[in-house]
Amino acid sequence: MKLKLGQYAVIGNPVEHSLSPDIHDHFAQASNVAMTYSKLFAPLDGFLPTVQDFFANGGGGLNVTVPFKLEAFEFADECDDFAIKAGAVNTLIPCDGKVLGSNTDGIGLVRDLEGRHEVGLGGARVLLLGAGGASRGVIQPLIEAGIAQLIIANRTIVNAQLLAQKFSGADKHAVPTDISAIGLSEIERSAKHLGDIDLIINSTSLGLQQGSMPFPADLVEDRVCYDMGYGGKARFAEWARANGALRAADGLGMLIEQAAESFRLWHGLHPQTDSIYHLLRNRV
Ligand code: ATR
Repeated sequence: MKLKLGQYAVIGNPVEHSLSPDIHDHFAQASNVAMTYSKLFAPLDGFLPTVQDFFANGGGGLNVTVPFKLEAFEFADECDDFAIKAGAVNTLIPCDGKVLGSNTDGIGLVRDLEGRHEVGLGGARVLLLGAGGASRGVIQPLIEAGIAQLIIANRTIVNAQLLAQKFSGADKHAVPTDISAIGLSEIERSAKHLGDIDLIINSTSLGLQQGSMPFPADLVEDRVCYDMGYGGKARFAEWARANGALRAADGLGMLIEQAAESFRLWHGLHPQTDSIYHLLRNRV
């Protein structure tokens, strides 16, 4: 395979559902950047040769999606702090003969919350549902945005405890974020004892599954909710709206903002994101 300069892609398995080509094509057009952006399917055991081939042939940059973000972290010659804290890479950037790894997911979440949904994170008390890869990828940027409290709630409590331990003290603020872990079962009957939570973020994969949400309705009542899934996968946001949430947003904006940050890392330009947000809003 011989690539022309300016060729970018998202690598995944599966990858055919990805909206990234639409988003990056839109950014490129609006910013006058000459590039192509395609979907790159890799066999489950074939991430490494596929990526090596892509860069050996002059590929300009890759986004990495499920299930390869951990392998991309291992593959990158150097990683920035967000990728190191996340233990995962979603953006690969060739630079001076090396490939650098970054993780823009958390920046995407923070920008969507603060910019698009006008949720102030400074001093906020946040309940994060889930302790998998998606959760781990966004904790450092939330801390850096100045949240006062983070409660990580997970079905398997030990995973939440490990994350709480990992990120406690990883904070340069004068008053560090107070980070704790609880089991989902602790909020299954009543969420009253959680106290003053300003924002609930769902990072679990529950939206992909059938069945009802394993949370009491009073969990979301009068609270701002955010679902990292989008479109049909944002079942938590739907459920939160039906159960009295103050507001409930899905993760479409996060998807677009993380892409914008990848675009900036590759091209040095931060694209305008509102028009593609409105275009895709009508599609998902
Ligand atoms: P991702 O990379 O998308 O985060 P993951 O690492 O497999 O995927 O994590 C999935 C998350 O959804 C985990 O927090 C998982 O909880 P466990 O650690 O207990 O597995 C959570 N999750 C998945 N199915 C769930 C369910 N039916 N009820 C509650 N939590 C669930």
